[in-house]
This record gives sequence, C-alpha cells and structure tokens, in this order.
Amino acid sequence: METQTVSQTLIRATNLKKYYNLGETTVKALDGVDLTVDEGEFVAIVGPSGSGKSTLVNMLGGVDTPDEGSITILPDVELSSLKPGDLTDFRRKYVGFVFQFYSLIPTLTALENVEMAAELVNLKGKELHQRAEEALESVGLKDRNGSYPSQLSGGERQRVAIARALAKRPRLILVDEPTGQLDDKTADEIVKLIRDVSKSYGSTVLMVTHDRAQLKYADRVIDMRSGKILDV
Ligand SMILES: Nc1ncnc2c1ncn2[C@@H]1O[C@H](COP(=O)(O)OP(=O)(O)OP(=O)(O)O)[C@@H](O)[C@H]1O
Ligand SMILES: [Mg+2]
Repeated sequence: METQTVSQTLIRATNLKKYYNLGETTVKALDGVDLTVDEGEFVAIVGPSGSGKSTLVNMLGGVDTPDEGSITILPDVELSSLKPGDLTDFRRKYVGFVFQFYSLIPTLTALENVEMAAELVNLKGKELHQRAEEALESVGLKDRNGSYPSQLSGGERQRVAIARALAKRPRLILVDEPTGQLDDKTADEIVKLIRDVSKSYGSTVLMVTHDRAQLKYADRVIDMRSGKILDV
C-alpha cells in the first residue's frame, strides 16, 4: 500500500507589498508576493542583491510589516492584526532567527547565550539548563558550553547561534545568509546541520542564501527579482 504524507500549510502570505519612497524614486522591496509554506518544509530563497529576500524573511518573522497584503501563520495567527506586544510574543514563542552576524553576547558563555533564548519561552532552572545543553549538543558543541564567543571560531560561533535559535523549539526558523563569512566546507556543514536539526525538531525553515551549492539541502527554492517571486 502506498503511504501518503499529508502536508499542512504553516504560512500563507498573500499579495505582500512594501514600498520605500526615496525622493523621486520608489523602491519596491516587495511587489506583490504570494507564498505558501508547508509545516516542516525547508525553503531556500535566492536572488540578486536588493531583490527583497531579507525584507520577505523579516516580514514572515514579524520583524517588519507589509504596506499591503496579509500573512497568516496557520491555524489562526494573522500577523497584521496583532498588536505590537502580541507580535513580540509571537516572535518569542514561534520564531528562531539565525543571521550572518552571529550577534552572540560576548560576556556570556556559549551555554548562557543559548539559555537566554530558551528563557523567552518561560523555561526556568534545570529544564532551561537541559534544553540549552541539548541544543548545543545537537550542533556538536557539547564540550564548548563554557567557552566565550571570543574563544570560538567563526563556524563554531555560527553553530552557537543555531543552537540559540533551536533551543526554544520554534515552529519557524528564519535564516538570512548564515554562512557569508565562512569557508565553503564549513558553510556546507552549517547548512546541512540546520537542515538535519530542523527536520528532527519538525521546524519549518526559510533560508536566504547566495550560495548555489547549498540548494541541494532545500525542499524547494524560491527565486526573487525586484520584489517578486519568479515563476518556476
Ligand atoms: N529601510 C529601507 N529604506 C529604504 N530602502 C530599503 C529599506 N530596506 C530595504 N530597502 C530596499 O529594498 C530593497 C530590498 O532590500 P532587501 O534587503 O530585502 O534585499 P536583499 O534581497 O535581502 O539583498 P541582499 O542580498 O543584498 O541582502 C533594496 O533595494 C533595499 O535598498
Ligand atoms: Mg539581504
């Protein structure tokens, strides 16, 4: 008998627009984007510089708001109708961010950096500690819990940043060029790691990348030009 996997939609974005007026000209950062993403899917976003990739990802994470259009995180969160406080709550509970610049806190150890993120979902004490240790272990840094960012390599710091995004077990992980400063081999390992760990946690990933070699890890690739998604 054939096994069927029923995929469920997690994100439905409709007709997203974001325009910036710069004197005489208008920059169309997003110019009518429609996008549906399934729960557990790993989607890569490519396209030239300035095509709207970061704008799109920031919008889906509730960091930026569209001028027009709607974003629904299913079953029932309509981002545009959330008050600022509720939007912050949504980000804390549901979204893990990984950016190119690791933004770790230099005066905290790897473990403490990860714990800070897990605290956002109200974990405390032993449970918080365990969750953070587990996240660091999942990125292969079990032995470096006590190291400060300055004592870690670029790739290791990026792995701490991934552990930080994963520790709260977010439904949605947004990744914006996580490997820009890393060599090809380390970059490949980092993306494979994001893929493997997110699959095992069941998280949905949207990852912006410039590196075509990384696309093999994606379930689907979205190509952007001038604020629009190219048809495939
Ligand atoms: N706050 C802003 N004010 C004016 N223009 C902006 C602003 N934010 C983004 N833009 C413009 O919107 C367009 C899309 O920007 P975005 O950062 O989404 O591009 P990107 O695809 O992520 O590019 P890159 O690959 O260089 O990171 C660009 O032309 C950018 O200059
Ligand atoms: Mg960008």
